[in-house]
Parts: sequence; structure tokens; C-alpha cells
Amino acid sequence: MEAPPATASRSAAAVCVTGAGGFLASRLVELLLSSRDHYVVVHGTVRDIGDGKNAHLKALENAGERLRLFKADVLDYGGVAAAIAGCDGVFHVASPVPSGRPTNPEEDVIAPAVTGTLNVLRASYEAKVKRVVVVSSVAAVFNNPKWPKGKPFNEDSWSDEELCRKSEEWYNLSKTLAEREAFAYAAKTGMDIVTVCPGLVIGPLMKPTVPTSIKMFFDYMKGDGETAENRLMSVLDVRDVADALLLAYEKPEASGRYLCSSTPRKLSDIINISKSLYPNFPYPKRFVEEEDTITFSSEKLRKLGWTFRPIEETIKNSFESYIASGILT
Ligand SMILES: NC(=O)c1ccc[n+]([C@@H]2O[C@H](COP(=O)([O-])OP(=O)(O)OC[C@H]3O[C@@H](n4cnc5c(N)ncnc54)[C@H](OP(=O)(O)O)[C@@H]3O)[C@@H](O)[C@H]2O)c1
Repeated sequence: MEAPPATASRSAAAVCVTGAGGFLASRLVELLLSSRDHYVVVHGTVRDIGDGKNAHLKALENAGERLRLFKADVLDYGGVAAAIAGCDGVFHVASPVPSGRPTNPEEDVIAPAVTGTLNVLRASYEAKVKRVVVVSSVAAVFNNPKWPKGKPFNEDSWSDEELCRKSEEWYNLSKTLAEREAFAYAAKTGMDIVTVCPGLVIGPLMKPTVPTSIKMFFDYMKGDGETAENRLMSVLDVRDVADALLLAYEKPEASGRYLCSSTPRKLSDIINISKSLYPNFPYPKRFVEEEDTITFSSEKLRKLGWTFRPIEETIKNSFESYIASGILT
């Protein structure tokens, strides 16, 4: 593929964030708007600009002068291209994160993830974007029966697509296919594409809707009401994941894939920390020891300069935010 002619005038250091109203993307937009010296303009795509669930974006500091919202479904190439035109960098964050079983997995989850990613990449190529950071997930990593038992997963592991399909793990499949397509596109065009694969993300909210990952966190914490599996968990703070995405964009030497995971802690430790801050949660009464737990290595990302805050701080700030926003009373 030949390099296309430049079609849009480039504002100084404009970047685009897809799915800007989402849990993780909102934090990234906030971070970009706070970096006054670097990012003069931030373009954010949302599916419905007038929807109240995106209102928090307009209230962010510096949003008035520097945030431009564009209406775009990632399946709509024209909408995506209009948002990306004139940008130096793109953070592709938008992707369905279903909280239950999708009724039509191909249409509801796979197509927006895979075709959406390809639309974003093609629009970025056309706009001569310098680097695209694609948000993948550990879901694209750990469904791999060939990985040695007990060895922390690293960037070499890919989820097995057939296994995901057979076990109907549609989200895992969507992230695996989308990330593979991203690297295939990079190989075909020479475009600079970096992917980041976070684990379970919690942390303070910017709007009172509960993202799927926080619902999952609550489910782990509740167990079946009586007992819970005392698994090792690597819970990430949404603010640290936003930092990781910015690092993956800004560091010239960043390339390929980056697992993003914190230090694993037993669920019982996480519950003990949480109990002292929020005793009212329906915590389990007993734990069942879970030996067969999986862990991830973020050594590559750490070498890029990534750090993360202590889990105590994440849990404290999370519960404060969940109580303040009314999702926990
Ligand atoms: N949270 C985690 O634990 C975690 C871990 C690893 C990776 N990730 C990845 O991080 C990204 C953000 O997830 P999140 O946790 O922040 O969840 P989220 O709040 O549900 O964000 C998902 C975003 O994707 C948008 N989206 C979905 N389908 C779309 C479509 N067809 N066109 C345009 N936008 C679409 C949603 O827009 P609407 O608001 O319009 O629906 C929303 O803004 C996803 O790529 C997810 O796979 C999350």
C-alpha cells in the first residue's frame, strides 16, 4: 500500500480517543486535557453527543477550549475518518464490553471490535497518523492451553481463537481477533501500531454508570454469598491504565504489545482492605483456596517506565467514588 496524500491540515499535536465517554477512555481524555504542553486539541468520538452519559466530558478541565466531540459509531467509516482527520495520534479504546451473554455475538461484539478496529486503522493511515495505540486486553492473552502451567503470561501468549469460539467466550474472541488484525494491518502498511492489554480495571468513576469490569469485581468480591474462590487477582487502577496508554503513545521506543497488570493479590487480602473502608458490602463468609490461578508479567511495560499505585489507594479511592456516585449506599 502506498502512503496516501495528506488530506487534512494538522493541528499541533491533536490526538483522537475513540469511545471517549467510556470508563477508561474518559480518564485518558482527562489526562490528555491536563497535559497542556503536549496535546493542544483532543478529538473524542461518542455514539451520541447529546446522551447524558457523555455529559461529564464537557465538564472536564480545559474541555471548553480543547475537547472536540465527534459523533461516530466505529462501524461507520465516514464518522471515524472525520474524527481522526488532522490528528497526529489515535487511541482506539472503543469496543463492546458485554456484561452478559450477547444475543448475537457476531453482530453485537465481534463486528464492532474487529471491523471497528480496521476502520480506525484505515482512517488513521489515510490521515497519516504517526502512531495508533490500540486497547486490547488480557482476554486476548490467557485463553491459551499451550502456555506452561504456573508461568506468568507475557506478550508471547495469544488466546486460542477456536477455544474461545467453542467455549462461547465472545469478548475474549473479539479482543483476540481485533488485536491480531491490528498487527496484520501494521505489517501490511508499515503503520506504527502499539497495543496495550490490561487486566481487570477498577478505580474511581467519572459518571454514575457501572462499567462491566466493576460489576465483575463486585461479583468476585461477593462470591456465591457464602464462599468465594480465594484466587490471585491483579486489579488495576483506571488512572494507571490511562498512564500506560499515554506512555505507549509518547515513548518513541514503544513497539508491539504490552501487558498491563499490577501485583497479584489474594482475593482475601483485597477483601480485608475493602472491609476496613466499606464494611457494608455482602462479603463472603469463607474462602475456598484456588491453586490454579493465572498471573501476568508487565515487565515490558515497566521497562518503558510504567508504575502503578498501591492497591490500598485504588480500593480507597474506588469505594469513596462508588459511595459518592450512589452505586453503593
Ligand atoms: N475495564 C476493563 O477491565 C478492561 C480490561 C481490559 C481491556 N479493556 C478494554 O478497554 C476498552 C474500554 O473499556 P471500558 O472498561 O472503559 O468499558 P466501557 O466503559 O463500556 O467503554 C466501552 C466504550 O466502547 C464504546 N463502544 C462500544 N461499541 C461501540 C461502537 N460500535 N461504536 C462506537 N463506540 C462503541 C462504548 O460507547 P457507548 O457508551 O456508546 O456504548 C464505550 O464508550 C475496551 O476496548 C475494553 O475491551 C477494559
